[in-house]
Amino acid sequence: MRRTMVAGNWKMHGTRASVAELINGLRHLALPGDVDVAVFPPFLHVGQVVDGLKGQSIQVGAQNCAVEPAQGALTGEIAPSQLVDAGCAYVLVGHSERRQLMGESDQMLNRKFAAAQACGLIPVLCIGETLEQRESGKTLEVVSRQLGSIIEELGVGAFAKAVIAYEPVWAIGTGLTATPQQAQDVHAAIRAQLAAENSEVAQGVRLLYGGSVKAANAVELFGMPDIDGGLIGGASLNADEFGAICRAAGN
Ligand code: 13P
Repeated sequence: MRRTMVAGNWKMHGTRASVAELINGLRHLALPGDVDVAVFPPFLHVGQVVDGLKGQSIQVGAQNCAVEPAQGALTGEIAPSQLVDAGCAYVLVGHSERRQLMGESDQMLNRKFAAAQACGLIPVLCIGETLEQRESGKTLEVVSRQLGSIIEELGVGAFAKAVIAYEPVWAIGTGLTATPQQAQDVHAAIRAQLAAENSEVAQGVRLLYGGSVKAANAVELFGMPDIDGGLIGGASLNADEFGAICRAAGN
């Protein structure tokens, strides 16, 4: 049975003071024992969050990493090995904001995914279509290409130690949520693509949904058979709301 997971992507939000306040809120949450909970602060605040959540069941991840595992001469980048040293367990790979705004290609993301795993980090591969792609009936084609790129380069076995987040770009930060059935349909297609290569890997991998998830819509989304939790943006900046979403993922 897959353990559900709720991850909070804080994106480019936070000051030392607001992060301290959020940590304090998270420390006081009553979290369900059957859900893996993680938060993804900006790099700048990873150390503060790791220290602040010591002794809690919440794990910490980063929002991006370099394409090479080891430290080196790469100004402005952070190596996956440095993230491990800082106390991270996860790293987001290929968030749509990075694919679209920073021009990250599938080839680059293959390298980031491999570099993260080489250091023992669990990559959370983010995939999803734009509104234009959905409206022209290309959703499954786009998602399948993004997923297929990793499978072709690293083999389906790479997903034995990874998480996948389906985030339709049109639902991110817009207040528009995919309906539970729309999300389920894509999640089922993702799992089927993996199952065509290896059914054990397909059954074990966690598929998170992301895009305007709130406490109010989480129960319905997480109730779908192939949705194993969520990747939460805006609502993860409020500890109480985030806690309610985590409880919605529990049994
Ligand atoms: P919102 O929950 O703010 O729509 O963001 C989703 C997201 O991009 C998480 O990575």
